[in-house]
Amino acid sequence: MYIKDTDRLQFSVAFESYFLEALKDCEGVTGEAMRYATLDGGKRVRPLCVYLGAKAVGGNIDVSEVLPLAAAVELIHSYSLVHDDMPEMDNDEYRRGKLSVHKKYGVPTALLTGDGLFSLAMVELLKCKTDAANELAIAALNMVYGQSEELAGCQAEKQWLDMYAKKTGALITGAFRAGAICEGAEESLLNNITEFAKRIGLAFQLSDDLLDGDPSIVDVIGKEKAKSLLSAQFDDICNIAESFANKDEMLLFAEEMRFRTK
Ligand code: IPE
Ligand code: IPE
Ligand code: MG
Ligand code: MG
Repeated sequence: MYIKDTDRLQFSVAFESYFLEALKDCEGVTGEAMRYATLDGGKRVRPLCVYLGAKAVGGNIDVSEVLPLAAAVELIHSYSLVHDDMPEMDNDEYRRGKLSVHKKYGVPTALLTGDGLFSLAMVELLKCKTDAANELAIAALNMVYGQSEELAGCQAEKQWLDMYAKKTGALITGAFRAGAICEGAEESLLNNITEFAKRIGLAFQLSDDLLDGDPSIVDVIGKEKAKSLLSAQFDDICNIAESFANKDEMLLFAEEMRFRTK
């Protein structure tokens, strides 16, 4: 099934079945916790970014070619959430409407769950074209640097924005780029996809900040400025999307990121 002939729903169905299969043999309590952390509740934004990135180029590859990339990015994202919730970091008891992994399985198993999810991501990445896999490997590293910058503390607006670009933006941008590279995007189109993705990544984080009350850039610039910064991300998105084979689908996705409710 070519990506260009696949809609979002069909991709989601294919993804869920591939993801389930990838996780089904994970062993013992840690394996159970790995499934607990991944298999229900996530919005699957980043796998969708892989799909959209490949489709933006034309989608002349089979869906099966991007599924390992999509699985890898969701595994990396999920591991980051497991560790992020731990007492040593954000100390959150709930995630996706249920107990966080350390609350359900204890801290040592939560640590191993993150390690296991990351290791499984490596297994998936090794099935992918090197250039595309490289995007996600670098993105995973930048995501960690972003988490580290947040731990160190951010004061000025620019510091928050740089941190967001890594903590949240890196995986989202990496996912779009990995999909596009897998499809063989040429330089100028890849640049447009990257510009689009960066705006989506920031919009995603800003709408998250406006939705929850956690410490964020909103504390520094205020709610109104955060809202206008969010809407500014969409100023030139229509122009950028002109070059995409799936322009309408990309713009619809952008709107969803702008008006998030969860
Ligand atoms: C939450 O990401 C963490 C951030 C980067 C803001 P998501 O909102 O995509 O989390 P799930 O996967 O849908 O639970
Ligand atoms: C989640 O970040 C982890 C990463 C983005 C790596 P946050 O701490 O900002 O998000 P929530 O509020 O726990 O989902
Ligand atoms: Mg955090
Ligand atoms: Mg957190």
